[in-house]
Amino acid sequence: MADSYASVNEVERLVANVNEAANKFKHAAGGDANLARRNLHLETQRLLASLEEPNLEINAAVAVEVLKDLNIWSKFEGGKTISHAEIVDISGADEIMIIRIFRQLTAVGVLADIPGPGYALTPLGKPYLNPDHVSFNNFLLHDIVPTILAMPRTMAERGYKAPTKDSGTPFKWLHGEELWTWMGSHPDHVPDMIAGMRSHNAGNLSGDAYPFGKELAQLDIKDDEVAIVDIAGGQGHTMAELRQRYPEVKGRLIVQDLLSTFQAVSGPPPGVEFMPHDMFTPQPVKKAHVYLFPSHLPRLERQRLRHLCTTSCAIIKRAAEEQIVVGRSGLA
Ligand SMILES: C[S@@+](CC[C@H](N)C(=O)[O-])C[C@H]1O[C@@H](n2cnc3c(N)ncnc32)[C@H](O)[C@@H]1O
Repeated sequence: MADSYASVNEVERLVANVNEAANKFKHAAGGDANLARRNLHLETQRLLASLEEPNLEINAAVAVEVLKDLNIWSKFEGGKTISHAEIVDISGADEIMIIRIFRQLTAVGVLADIPGPGYALTPLGKPYLNPDHVSFNNFLLHDIVPTILAMPRTMAERGYKAPTKDSGTPFKWLHGEELWTWMGSHPDHVPDMIAGMRSHNAGNLSGDAYPFGKELAQLDIKDDEVAIVDIAGGQGHTMAELRQRYPEVKGRLIVQDLLSTFQAVSGPPPGVEFMPHDMFTPQPVKKAHVYLFPSHLPRLERQRLRHLCTTSCAIIKRAAEEQIVVGRSGLA
């Protein structure tokens, strides 16, 4: 590995980027602080990546799931330490297995070894107190990792050709259909997927990434008008947060997604409506004040993006003429 280490100059440049991002974070306020924090995180990751050896942390992901199965995450609530003996007792596991499983998490800095012996959460591990983060881990482990593991084979089988609308993504190469329709026939996987999406917003929600309260107030929205259509909005977590954060917002909040996404829950959050809709078909809501487009649009394959535009361009054009706001969800 020695030959592939980053040069001193390169590392110095990355350190300077981290310092600059830290300085911006220090002086940022309001919604900008979230952006500045994410940028600092990104620059720090770049610096770390320049110093690390290649490391697939799938073992840590497996350990995260084992702790979920043993109902251990919540025991760290309130900064508590859990003794090694208690974990062996709760799980009925062989002590050596607990040592091996927990070592995966201390090695990546999610847990800290505490004299006693025992374990406590580090700042990196605290997000796992939120079950949504554990769900995201499960979603990656069960639904995404198998596709990645199969890619050397599936890419070779396709002669290393880039995915197109017709050939589909690596997920389809393995499963015969795309992730979102596959979810329809695997409804038991949907809750983890949705909770995982929600986890992206924890602490820096899309609800405050855009000044919805201020912007919507200027639009003089009536109760029976559609205030927002959240396209591919999952099970409505962003709109639910919006209702909570801005109770004064008038008008209907409509979440559009595939039927299978809605079928996995008993109904929409209070003050939010579900509308099953495939976003690659013409938009049925012709007049809303705001259309939120999904954040992964820029990553869509060109042909598919063009198709989406033909179903929505007329609306966007009219929106611009009538000064209706067009935003997008998950402003990552
Ligand atoms: C990456 S998630 C984003 C969810 C939500 N917007 C958020 O920010 O958390 C993608 C969502 O798009 C939905 N989706 C995928 N293909 C779709 C389609 N053709 N029409 C409507 N929704 C779709 C999925 O069911 C899923 O809920």
